[in-house]
Amino acid sequence: MPIIHVKRLKKSFKSYNREQWLFEALKSLFSIKFTINEALKGISFEVKEGEILGLIGPNGAGKSTAIKILSGLLWPDSGEATAMGMIPWQNRVKYVANIGAVFGQKTQMMWDLPPIDSFYMDKDLYSIPEPEFTQRFRKMTQMLEVEEVMKSPVRELSLGERMRCEIINALLHNPPLVFLDEPTIGLDVIAKDKLRDFIFDVNKKHKTTFIITTHDMQDIEKLCSRIIIINHGTIIYDGPLEDIKKKYLTDKHIEVKLSSKPKRFAFKGCKVLEKQEYQMKLEQDTTKKPIQQLINYLLQNFEVADITVTNPPIEEIIKKIYRE
Ligand SMILES: Nc1ncnc2c1ncn2[C@@H]1O[C@H](COP(=O)(O)OP(=O)(O)OP(=O)(O)O)[C@@H](O)[C@H]1O
Ligand SMILES: [Mg+2]
Repeated sequence: MPIIHVKRLKKSFKSYNREQWLFEALKSLFSIKFTINEALKGISFEVKEGEILGLIGPNGAGKSTAIKILSGLLWPDSGEATAMGMIPWQNRVKYVANIGAVFGQKTQMMWDLPPIDSFYMDKDLYSIPEPEFTQRFRKMTQMLEVEEVMKSPVRELSLGERMRCEIINALLHNPPLVFLDEPTIGLDVIAKDKLRDFIFDVNKKHKTTFIITTHDMQDIEKLCSRIIIINHGTIIYDGPLEDIKKKYLTDKHIEVKLSSKPKRFAFKGCKVLEKQEYQMKLEQDTTKKPIQQLINYLLQNFEVADITVTNPPIEEIIKKIYRE
């Protein structure tokens, strides 16, 4: 059952061009110039209940704009959207009680107060019954390992600590629908993993629907079975992550640290992207040869100190989709 319906949603932003010089500024009082930025050019999609949908795309693609409209913070210019039978920007009060939202770039908690105060405010605001609140609060702070910072003002928390508290803040009232705009931004690998495990756990236990935007392919791989790729305000792909992986994630990036200078070599499907004194960046086309064989080859022929295999960034996948 779809929990969200979006149809031909459009949003443009008008920016006024400010003139630098007094004369020009005076003149512009009479003829105000502005440019129109079409952030969303009529997007349509549905989200099923219990789904974790990944919304990805380059900077300025329109992801945050879409999330803001769907969480009721912005009005669209035209088009339709309903979530849980409500129109997000019209039934504000009732709607907000049923959703959770985290904007990685901006805190939703009180800057000068400790997280625990914001959590107690949620408790009153959403009328969370006492035993439920305490139980959830304990479990969440423990799982995300933020018990120790509960009483420090938000402004004193590290980015990672704050982000974990933001998630708790958004989920304490156990909303069926949650929007996470770059929830893992700036987190270290361990904190990212904890957060992903936590989101996964909540989704499995409560069938919570999540819409997540991220620039981290690892987030997507761990959490999302379906992705929507958006570019310049248009959806260019909507479907299973598997299909994209099979088609476009066939190239892997390999970073090799060496204990001696690299020599020339040739390996089928392998391109050298960068070569430094004790380091190489390679790209392997895994349709030509599997990554495991390249690793074995490197280990046998070089003095390898460290190897990391990563997926190319989302931007490269988008370029490939375009090239087709
Ligand atoms: N309040 C605003 N006023 C004017 N323009 C805006 C506003 N918010 C967004 N835009 C513009 O709309 C476009 C889409 O922005 P949006 O924040 O949705 O991108 P995004 O996909 O979230 O990018 P990022 O990955 O950088 O977060 C951008 O060109 C941006 O400059
Ligand atoms: Mg954004």
